[in-house]
Amino acid sequence: MQIDKVIKIAPAIKWSGSKRSQVPTIMKHIPNFKKYYEPFIGGGSVAYAVLPQIGICGDSYSPLIEFWKKVKDSPEELAESYYERWNQLQDEGHLRFYEIRDRFNLAPNAEDLLFLSRTCVTGLIRFNKNGEFNNALHHTRKGINPATLHTILVDWSKRMQGITFMDGDYRSTAESITKDDFIYLDPPYFNNKSRYLGTIDYESFLEFLAWLNSKGVKYALSYDGGRGEKSYLTHHSANTTYYVTFEVESGDRMEFKVSDKEYGMLAEGDKGKLTFQGSRYKEFTRIKSDAVHEEN
Ligand SMILES: C[S@@+](CC[C@H](N)C(=O)[O-])C[C@H]1O[C@@H](n2cnc3c(N)ncnc32)[C@H](O)[C@@H]1O
Repeated sequence: MQIDKVIKIAPAIKWSGSKRSQVPTIMKHIPNFKKYYEPFIGGGSVAYAVLPQIGICGDSYSPLIEFWKKVKDSPEELAESYYERWNQLQDEGHLRFYEIRDRFNLAPNAEDLLFLSRTCVTGLIRFNKNGEFNNALHHTRKGINPATLHTILVDWSKRMQGITFMDGDYRSTAESITKDDFIYLDPPYFNNKSRYLGTIDYESFLEFLAWLNSKGVKYALSYDGGRGEKSYLTHHSANTTYYVTFEVESGDRMEFKVSDKEYGMLAEGDKGKLTFQGSRYKEFTRIKSDAVHEEN
């Protein structure tokens, strides 16, 4: 198994909960393996970076899996479908977006999903309580240029050739896993019910982790410790190590190991004063002005 450490990833599709910016950190925790499993594939950045020779990736959102199968097998057709829709949007205006959105809600499909994700406000795939995609058109942006997206999709296709995509629950995707394999888990956040896709029953998920442990399978889990029920962290993740990346004034990024308590208190986008000593994190004080840093 070879791990290709890719830092810059142009997304094939925008996906909420994407771990694209955390990929460098996640990659540090990926051991050698025979087969790669990723049963909550979402926007796929981790699979892209891992570049498995043999992988099984899945998601319970069927149109997304249809999308990934098409990225793998027919990226040219997919790029063409975006080109057509994007041209219609430029020629016919915003009503075209809403027609495509209505069509998608009646019959969800990969091509419309790609178009909507690339032209809606901030690229967020969001649903109302009836499960309908309800985000609006991003009026001030044209949507990614079709030629650029074409290049991106062809690149992703090359990197996805070793992967088999499965439509379904994480447990069915992982059914065939053995102790020589590795699984990366990025479930929807606890209590994250309405606007984004899916929610899982965490008791069942913990049983699943126990099942992986009983088989001796290696896994890495992304879990939002800052939201929802924290007892899961204290009871079940005694060995969890938390890393946080800070961007300092110069634009450089620095990664520090922090306690679970600190981790829970930090949120993406926080600005403030970072204090550290060598490679050791000491403190972060949130302030309103731009981030400053100081070593002592
Ligand atoms: C946090 S996102 C994954 C994001 C992904 N790691 C990325 O970088 O884009 C969680 C994904 O889990 C999927 N999902 C929700 N419930 C699921 C289930 N029971 N089984 C499999 N996938 C599920 C959602 O559709 C969503 O794509």
